[in-house]
Amino acid sequence: MTRGFPAGFRWGTATAAFQIEGSTTADGRGPSIWDTFAARPGRVLDGATGDPACDHYRRYREDVGLLRELGVPYYRFSVAWSRIMPDGRTIEPRGLAFYDRLVDTLLEHGITPMTTLYHWDLPQALEDEGGWPNRDLASLFADYTLTVHKALGDRVRQWTTINEPFCAAFIGYGNGDHAPGIQDEGAAVVAGHNLMLAHGLAAQALRAGGGEQEVSIVLNFAPVLTEVNDAAHREAARRFDFLHNRFFLDPLLGRGYPPELLADLAHLGTLEPAIADGDLELIAQPLDVLGVNYYAPARAAPLADPEADSNCPLPGLRGMDVTPPRGDVTSLGWEQRPESFTDLLLWLRDHCPGLPLVIAENGAAFEDEVVAGRVHDEKRVRYFAEHLGAVHDAIERGADVRGYMAWSLLDNFEWAMGYTQRFGLVHVDFGTQARVLKDSARFYADVVARNGLKE
Ligand code: NOJ
Repeated sequence: MTRGFPAGFRWGTATAAFQIEGSTTADGRGPSIWDTFAARPGRVLDGATGDPACDHYRRYREDVGLLRELGVPYYRFSVAWSRIMPDGRTIEPRGLAFYDRLVDTLLEHGITPMTTLYHWDLPQALEDEGGWPNRDLASLFADYTLTVHKALGDRVRQWTTINEPFCAAFIGYGNGDHAPGIQDEGAAVVAGHNLMLAHGLAAQALRAGGGEQEVSIVLNFAPVLTEVNDAAHREAARRFDFLHNRFFLDPLLGRGYPPELLADLAHLGTLEPAIADGDLELIAQPLDVLGVNYYAPARAAPLADPEADSNCPLPGLRGMDVTPPRGDVTSLGWEQRPESFTDLLLWLRDHCPGLPLVIAENGAAFEDEVVAGRVHDEKRVRYFAEHLGAVHDAIERGADVRGYMAWSLLDNFEWAMGYTQRFGLVHVDFGTQARVLKDSARFYADVVARNGLKE
């Protein structure tokens, strides 16, 4: 028996520029905030940097060959702004030429490119002008978008403006665990708003560029659970949900920032003054597709003792805590709970009716070992099987899910965790750059080939 997915379902794998490319100074590339951040002692585990990563900048043909071998027809990758415009403004043709070659190579192999314009690697020169809390970045992002679209728009149809604005804003500028490593909650919410403006202007630029563009943004969602069903926990879950999931989604849908969220953030005093006339209309550009990233649920709780340390990863909210994950976790300690994935997709079915969804990322990090040329990553195979089952359940119950991108094609640079966390379908030896297909890659290739899950 096979649990079949709808005809035409888009199967893909995903990567991001800084996590795989390496060659951080090649062909005129300028430094990004991640180069600067990684060079600061103690910010990235083991002092890891963006070099060599997967050396994909030089080995992209081999990597496209892997995609071909797997038979997975879509490939989601990101463009590095600092290759296209090393100072954030001036075009570097050699940087553009790389993505031109990549897109051509993908198409030669029958693989459809899906291009993300911003996956966290802001040119450092723009950080030096204040970074995302500076509203001017929104129009600079639109200029960059237009440049990339001019170069690739004759061949790329599927465009994502921004990947996970929540992380770019709140982890980058709020708790400072990601580049640029700033801890300023008031600035973080403004960064979030400016990222949304950047999305709106970029969406307009993509449409103005002509052609049949499919425009999307990718948001990361954490369905929120609580250990206790009382009023205080329900309120903690509500606040977590509004900041993590609805800060970005509701304005995109034309509903503005929820009043409860504005109240939760009022003590910072920065968000409402940052919203200028016309901003909410600009953010609410029509979307063709919503990209959904799902990894794990969150478990929210009120902070029992206001003096105690909080484990809550959300900057900007007061009195919040989280409780530990339950059951099986990944090597990042993330809870494995496929039911939450189904719940999320059903919630989106109801919250944004008429908006098609594509799973832009889903996957898991585990410790892998190459033994006699094979990687028997049964935990990852199980993770994928269960989470694809969860997506299937949601589709059966009416969620309009059009595709699924596995994170990730390759083991890669997992941000502040450096090279310690392996998410790939393909194992990468970062010393020799040898690639080995894991069992999960073979499993996924089989799902894609039969457009369904074997039961
Ligand atoms: C989401 C991010 O988009 C991606 O860059 C990251 O590697 C995965 N989550 C796993 O943490």
